[in-house]
Amino acid sequence: MVGIIGGSGLYDVEGIKVLEHIELDTPFGKPSDSYVVADIKGKKAIFLPRHGKGHKYPPHLINYRANIWGFRKLGVNKIFSISAVGGINPVLRPGDFVIVNQFIDFTKSRPLSFYEGIYSKSDDTGINDTVSEYLNEKKVVHIDVSMPFCSHMQAILERVLNEKEFVFVKNATYIATEGPRLETSAEIKAFSLLGADVVGMTLVPEVVLARELNMHFVSLSVVTNPAAGISSDRLTSKEVIDMMHKKNNQIKRLILDFVPELPDKLNCNCEDVLLDAAI
Ligand code: HPA
Repeated sequence: MVGIIGGSGLYDVEGIKVLEHIELDTPFGKPSDSYVVADIKGKKAIFLPRHGKGHKYPPHLINYRANIWGFRKLGVNKIFSISAVGGINPVLRPGDFVIVNQFIDFTKSRPLSFYEGIYSKSDDTGINDTVSEYLNEKKVVHIDVSMPFCSHMQAILERVLNEKEFVFVKNATYIATEGPRLETSAEIKAFSLLGADVVGMTLVPEVVLARELNMHFVSLSVVTNPAAGISSDRLTSKEVIDMMHKKNNQIKRLILDFVPELPDKLNCNCEDVLLDAAI
C-alpha cells in the first residue's frame, strides 16, 4: 500500500474517496496526526500531514519515527513524500517541481534510527520480518543509503510528470538543515559548493527511517522560494505557504494519476537494504 506524506487537505479532491481516519500510537510516541485512508481510483492509499493539522509541529520537533512506524502498522510499504524547498541551483524557479535523488544531512538533533542496539524498542506490529527480528534482538544496524530513493518509483513519477507537462527537474540533491530558522547567505553559498540543488528541513530523517523499515520512498519537492542570498529579498514563511497553496491543485492531480500507476511489486533494490546490515 502507498503512504502519502504532505500538507493537510491533499485528499480533499474529487476522485479521492476518504474511507476512514485512523488514530494510533507507536512505541516511539504519537504520529503528527491521524492517518486518512482513502481510495484513489480503486487503489488504497494513506495520507499523513507531516506537520499535523494546523501545522502544529516545527520540522525539528516532528516525531518522524512515529510517523513512519504508523505507516508500517497500517501496511504501507511505499511512500510518496511531498515537501517545500528553497532553490539553490540557479536554474530552479519558484513553482518548479524537483525529483530528489540524493541528500546531504545537516540536521543536528533528531532521532535518526529505529535500531538503537540495547536501547531498541520491541516491534508491536505482529509482523514477522527482518525489521522485527533486528529490533527484538536489539541489533545495531547500518543501512546503505548510497542511493536513498526508489529508482522504480522515481521513473514512474517522472513519466507521470512528463505526461502532465508539469515543469520539473530530476536527479537533484537536497540538503537538509535543522531549522526552524532559515539559512544564512553564507550557508547557502557553502551548500551550493557542496553540490546541493535545494534546501529543506524535513526529508532527513524521513527517508532514512522509511528505508530502515524496508520501504520504497520517492520524494517530490516544490520550490517555494529562492534560497537565502540567491535573490536579495527577505525570506518569509508566507511566500512558502502561498506557493504551496498555489501548487495544491497540481499536486492533487499528480497524486490522482501517480498512485494508480504504482505496481504492487516494484523493480528495484530497496527491499534488499536490511540484508547483512546488522552486526
Ligand atoms: N530553506 C529551508 N527550508 C525551506 C526553504 C528554505 O529556503 N523553503 C522551503 N523550505
